[in-house]
Amino acid sequence: MTPATNASSTESTVDGGDMLAPWWRRGVVYQVYPRSFADANGDGTGDVNGLRARLPYLAELGVDAVWINPWYTSPLNDGGYDVADYRNIEARFGSLADAEAMISEAHELGIRVICDLVPNHTSSEHEWFKEALAAEPGTASRARYHFRPGRGENGDEPPTDWTSVFGGPSWTRTTNVDGTPGDWYLHLFDPTQPDMNWTNAEVRAEFVSILRFWLDRGVDGFRVDVAHGLAKDMSFPDLGEATGDILVSEHKDNHPYWDRDDVHPIIREWRAVLDEYEGDRMMVAEAWVRPERLPLYVRPDEYHQSFDFDFLTCEWNADSFRNTIDTSLAQARLVNSTVTWVLSNHDVVRHPTRYGLPQGTDWRRWLLDGPHDILDAEAGKARARAVILLVLGLPGSSYLYQGEELGLPEVWDLPPEVLDDPVWTLSEGTRKGRDGCRVPIPWTADGASFGFVEGDTAAAWLPMPASFGPLSAEAQAGVEGSSLELYRSALAVRKMHFAADEALTWLESPDGVLAFQRGSGAQVWVNVSGGTAPLPEGATLLVASHAEVAKNGALAPNQSAWILP
Ligand code: GLC
Repeated sequence: MTPATNASSTESTVDGGDMLAPWWRRGVVYQVYPRSFADANGDGTGDVNGLRARLPYLAELGVDAVWINPWYTSPLNDGGYDVADYRNIEARFGSLADAEAMISEAHELGIRVICDLVPNHTSSEHEWFKEALAAEPGTASRARYHFRPGRGENGDEPPTDWTSVFGGPSWTRTTNVDGTPGDWYLHLFDPTQPDMNWTNAEVRAEFVSILRFWLDRGVDGFRVDVAHGLAKDMSFPDLGEATGDILVSEHKDNHPYWDRDDVHPIIREWRAVLDEYEGDRMMVAEAWVRPERLPLYVRPDEYHQSFDFDFLTCEWNADSFRNTIDTSLAQARLVNSTVTWVLSNHDVVRHPTRYGLPQGTDWRRWLLDGPHDILDAEAGKARARAVILLVLGLPGSSYLYQGEELGLPEVWDLPPEVLDDPVWTLSEGTRKGRDGCRVPIPWTADGASFGFVEGDTAAAWLPMPASFGPLSAEAQAGVEGSSLELYRSALAVRKMHFAADEALTWLESPDGVLAFQRGSGAQVWVNVSGGTAPLPEGATLLVASHAEVAKNGALAPNQSAWILP
């Protein structure tokens, strides 16, 4: 049956896809936030051995790789993005030996391992920063960071008007060894995350050495933190605007620290190092830049991938999805790259909750300001099920954030006293921060921590809501129609029908319905409209977001299907 039509058909193709292409061009990567994934030693904080114990779960889910958020020695002021020692593991997470065992056990199960590289800043507990604070202004120790004299008569005004991404000024004044007020240092994030000076040769050499340290231990790649922020305008001009927001991709041109051209030689240096190693090692950039700037980051001698944050921030709206998909595919084609799709991560409100909010809601503000009764949790849940077939049906690579396979929503009602994200304090309680998407994973239907803490001997580091029990892996495994089983079957079917080529052809479809065909003939249908959309007659259903699709031969609102026509 041919569906009712009033939309035009276009074609969008990304070249370069074949079965011999490197794994990451179409790989599905599962993001593990180690603090919240699984706790093996019973202290309420997730750890490397907890992750090791769950590797068979990830193998059964069918992912190609894991990306592990920072697991290095850290005071954990910013969840580990404040690294004190890049060559060791945070004691609360385990040991270097545990990490090495994890890497080899993952490999035995056919799962690749991507580490997080945090090059924009160290922790203030890093040896280099401690050394810098103890040194005189103008010394080599200080030159690894950005120390500047203050402005004003007594130097008591910050060197520029830049604001931290987390809130407050991005400069903190130091105290000289003799107790007098000293220079200021730059931190685009928390004051305990001093920015490194990437014009400094020692800094560049150190990160090449850190890359080698982990490559030598067998890791398959790196997710690079704040990839668009390393290079600063060394004349330190004022910005003239009050926001340092990383989420805003509409930054002005020639911004003093976001997306400067000087980041690219650094990337090329790293790429040359990775290319020396066997086995398709890769790097994925966290670069919050305008869509037209993204291809610069994935040129053949730079990053292999860069997250598509424009897709992540799309509203539940067919035009918005389709326009972003077309733009992203076209941009990737310019540099013979593929698109890296992602719906959620440890920095954003989980997508079942985002899609349950009316269009136009600023979801970060909504967390604190509400009104919370505008959330349609059921619609959000249905949309999350529907959208995963869109994402996994698209050409390119996809990243899944831990717990999304369970359909976990944002825990938006965490009480202020448990909030840990520095955003909460630095914004002086005006932004709630990112804890709501970092609540630990429920593994069992019952127990004080739903099995997150081995033996349930302690409370999880963030409180877990009662509603997590029925969403636990235990409650969903083997249950037909569960979110977990939907992800498992989608990942299995994807390998057969959606990984062989990287072409996409839009099909004629009713208004508000996204429909496209992949090279071999499998089709993706997603109903983003408010009405019912029939599926082509005689089609074979491969996977459906909801059980009724098979019975009805049609998609109700917020449903999707993969079919063979
Ligand atoms: C990135 C990370 C985020 C962290 C920030 C500073 O945006 O994803 O979690 O807070 O960088 O490192």
